[in-house]
Amino acid sequence: MNQDYIFPHIEKCLAENGVSLTTDICEEGKGAAIANTYFLQTDDGNFIIDPACGERRLRQIETRLPFKEYDMLLTHSHLDHSANSGAKVFHNSQVICHPLVAGKINNLQRNYTDVTAEMVRVFGVDGFFGRTGMLSPSMIKLLMGIQKLSPAILDRLLNAVSLALLRRKVGRIYPPTGKVVFLREDQRTDLLFANTPFRGWILGEKLFALETPGHQDDHLSFYVPDRKILFAGDLVSFLNPNDILDGCLKDTRIYMQKMLQLAESGGINILAVGHALPVIGKDQVIAYLRLLIDKQEEAFKTVEEIVASFPDKRDFDGIITKVYAHESELMKKILKINYPRSVSFIDVYVYLYLKEYCWEETDIN
Ligand SMILES: [Fe+2]
Repeated sequence: MNQDYIFPHIEKCLAENGVSLTTDICEEGKGAAIANTYFLQTDDGNFIIDPACGERRLRQIETRLPFKEYDMLLTHSHLDHSANSGAKVFHNSQVICHPLVAGKINNLQRNYTDVTAEMVRVFGVDGFFGRTGMLSPSMIKLLMGIQKLSPAILDRLLNAVSLALLRRKVGRIYPPTGKVVFLREDQRTDLLFANTPFRGWILGEKLFALETPGHQDDHLSFYVPDRKILFAGDLVSFLNPNDILDGCLKDTRIYMQKMLQLAESGGINILAVGHALPVIGKDQVIAYLRLLIDKQEEAFKTVEEIVASFPDKRDFDGIITKVYAHESELMKKILKINYPRSVSFIDVYVYLYLKEYCWEETDIN
């Protein structure tokens, strides 16, 4: 794989705007599991946005880094964006992130181990491992036997397996030490760009951190209004959200629309996303966002209709069985990219839908 490949027309346009990147994407229209790392040069300083994860990415960053002095911006704390943030090579830089990252930074592995444990807690051993096709029926039976014998032993086992998988998937985790800057709640302010209101932080005269929850509660997008560049992390991805602990379906819909509003008002010429190549050009950005939002809304309406046909909204197993059996092309595609091959995970999506739109507080165990 050509690790540093980027299409020349994209690279040229980015360079004219003080941006470069390192990515695992090698083909237009394709994505990558590990997030892109962007380098941004502004009058307010130099920045690395999302150092991602893995030793290979650290070497790529060292090779391509266009400046010596810089700070780091984290769009959110998911490991594929943040695991390298405390690596030795960045020892001089500040790591700037959302206030909510404060509770997670010393235990970044929580993003994986706790999420897996929560999935098993919510969906059950058979639901989680069975629907995703991760384990054979005999293995599932064995785990259910262990669970019956001792839930604590199952928890420990899941945690150990998650850690091993985590190590293989993202490599070593380097939580930042010493120089983390958690943006302060009392400094969050109202911002207005191209008639689109946001809440966020002023990082410099021409650089802003916009609060864009949904994909994860600590998600930020970084905006350079005079160049009309938005670093949008994972807010605009499909199928979103996929985080059972910190994701929010309502916020995802609100903030994806907000991104579209900003783009339609002429506020985005470059949309720098986490797992695809940056989108260049106002019209292209609008078309990209509209397409993603349409797909997202189609998934939403499908789930909404299926749930509406169930008198008992707590019948998760019945609802999810009907979702899996749905005949639409979109649903077939969603099931094809299911966890763990992708972070897209329809079970989480349906669970969050029920939790946010149907269930009372007392229904959530
Ligand atoms: Fe993410």
